[in-house]
Amino acid sequence: MKELIDKLEKQHILSKEEYTTLIKNFTPEISEYLFEKARNVRHKYYGHDVYMRGLIEFTNYCKNDCLYCGIRHSNKNADRYRLTKEQILDCCKNGYELGFRTFVLQGGEDDYFTDEIIVDIVKSIKQSYPDCAVTLSIGEKSYESYLAYFNAGADRYLLRHETADNEHYHKLHPHNLSPENRKRCLFDLKKIGYQVGCGFMVGSPYQTAENLADDMLFIKKLQPDMVGIGPFIAQHDTPFHDKENGTLELTLFMLGLLRLTVPNALIPSTTALGTIAPNGRELGILAGANVVMPNLSPVSVRKKYLLYDNKICTGDEAAECRFCMQNRMKSIGYNVVISRGDAKQLGVRN
Ligand code: 5AD
Ligand code: FES
Repeated sequence: MKELIDKLEKQHILSKEEYTTLIKNFTPEISEYLFEKARNVRHKYYGHDVYMRGLIEFTNYCKNDCLYCGIRHSNKNADRYRLTKEQILDCCKNGYELGFRTFVLQGGEDDYFTDEIIVDIVKSIKQSYPDCAVTLSIGEKSYESYLAYFNAGADRYLLRHETADNEHYHKLHPHNLSPENRKRCLFDLKKIGYQVGCGFMVGSPYQTAENLADDMLFIKKLQPDMVGIGPFIAQHDTPFHDKENGTLELTLFMLGLLRLTVPNALIPSTTALGTIAPNGRELGILAGANVVMPNLSPVSVRKKYLLYDNKICTGDEAAECRFCMQNRMKSIGYNVVISRGDAKQLGVRN
């Protein structure tokens, strides 16, 4: 097992069988061995810096019906909301004053927000905050739409691939959604010139170790700038309400493998990880992650953007999360920095 981790550290890739062996057989001791190597690589590129992204959850309307997600179209209990352009710009203003230099606009797939409206919002944010990066996370769109947002000034795009295995994809999504289109979107985004983020849930229903190995190989092929992963957490109003949650241990192990597989990637320690364990986000950083994404959404809507149960930080003001995060990172020897936090290029040391 240790030899496989040594090999991954040197070559940044393993075969599907090798990844699978590690994922099936890891122990606390092997995990520690992996995390130490993951931290070394992370320190080489990013030192002890932790990048912050201000997350603005601007609509929880969604036309899709992903089986795991609390804001799926069929969830009649979801209390739907949309932020206005003015509210979104207010979040950015608040965020800018708190030191955020990246704003992530995330929402369900909501046709109310036409390309024209998104373009207008992106342009306004970039005009007011030219030193900030704008990241969009609004789902599957056409090449033309992605191009229009990019030309308006959007810098980055997050679209988790969810699972690289087509059969597994169909177990998590209704049949009008296809893994082929999801992947098409990711390659279109790269082609246009976005910094692209993909990712997946750890421990999603029906996931196998082989699926996770395929996720690593897919990521190697896509070469994303960012990879977001977090544990699957059941949401009580979804078809997966009685499925088991992903574990802390496996999520951390996958974070370590990711860091060695894509050494210079921007990897968040996610809110979902902080939800399954009180110090989950700190442990994520110690396993190789280098980004945190505190929420900038108005407190009035936070309890409505519930993709999964027991989500943390839903009662806290942006400033509280900002400083809470700073303290959490400090407690483990890391510093949140005021910076756009772009990816470092391979081979360039800090
Ligand atoms: N548990 C954990 N993560 C979830 N997501 C959606 N629903 C859940 C859930 N129940 C993740 C998906 C999506 C991202 C925005 O949140 O991976 O891409
Ligand atoms: Fe939100 Fe700690 S990060 S309260």
